[in-house]
Amino acid sequence: MKGAFVLAFVAVFAAVAQANNCPALYRESNLSPIFNETIAHAIHSMTVQGLRLFNPRATANNKIPTVNQNLHNGAKVVPFAPEDPVGNDFYDFTMNMIDRVLTNVGTHDDGLGHHWSPAERIVHVFHMWDLWLHIQPYYQRIASSSPVSDALCECLLDTKSNGIYNNVGWVANHYESGTPISLKNIVEIPPLVDGNSWKIWKKDLLQYYNKESLTDAGMYLYCALKDF
Ligand SMILES: *[C@@H]1O[C@H](CO)[C@@H](O)[C@H](O)[C@H]1NC(C)=O
Repeated sequence: MKGAFVLAFVAVFAAVAQANNCPALYRESNLSPIFNETIAHAIHSMTVQGLRLFNPRATANNKIPTVNQNLHNGAKVVPFAPEDPVGNDFYDFTMNMIDRVLTNVGTHDDGLGHHWSPAERIVHVFHMWDLWLHIQPYYQRIASSSPVSDALCECLLDTKSNGIYNNVGWVANHYESGTPISLKNIVEIPPLVDGNSWKIWKKDLLQYYNKESLTDAGMYLYCALKDF
């Protein structure tokens, strides 16, 4: 009885020590100092279909926080990446995705709120798929050669403590007032109407296409998907 009590105490103590240790584990890892921003950006509109780029066995039973697709109803952030299947009326993925986006215009059920024009919605969805495809080889390298320790994964997946969850919430809140593209140097993003406004969009869209951000996202997704 006494032994069990001591064991339970040790287990609780170990869990607390573990949580306190996260900053050190982050520092010793390959994560960038702003991983909570780069990862939140990579996952804020993640879907099960997107997750299957990394692990074909992924399901909606994941714990990846995302902006609620139905922003005008309920919580701004949901604690999982939902199913978002594209149809097959057209022949190729691209056209089927455009069909999916345009079908939802006016319903505000695509997680972007009501400030985005149809062209901007199309840009957003293909930007995210483009980024996820860019993360794919980083994920594969991490999964095959340098597995992230269980302790570091536990820290990374504790998104309510490390800022990832709050940063996804930041994105959701800013969809109420505009079309934020990145979480830093927030400049007013102009309506996308011509080549000049596209230049500003493009610069902001490319913000997280660097090696550090892609590695952050790859490590997080490895942890989030390793048990599927
Ligand atoms: C993200 O991490 C940075 C650096 O550790 C920290 O200063 C910031 O407060 C975190 N963001 C949130 C939303 O917790």
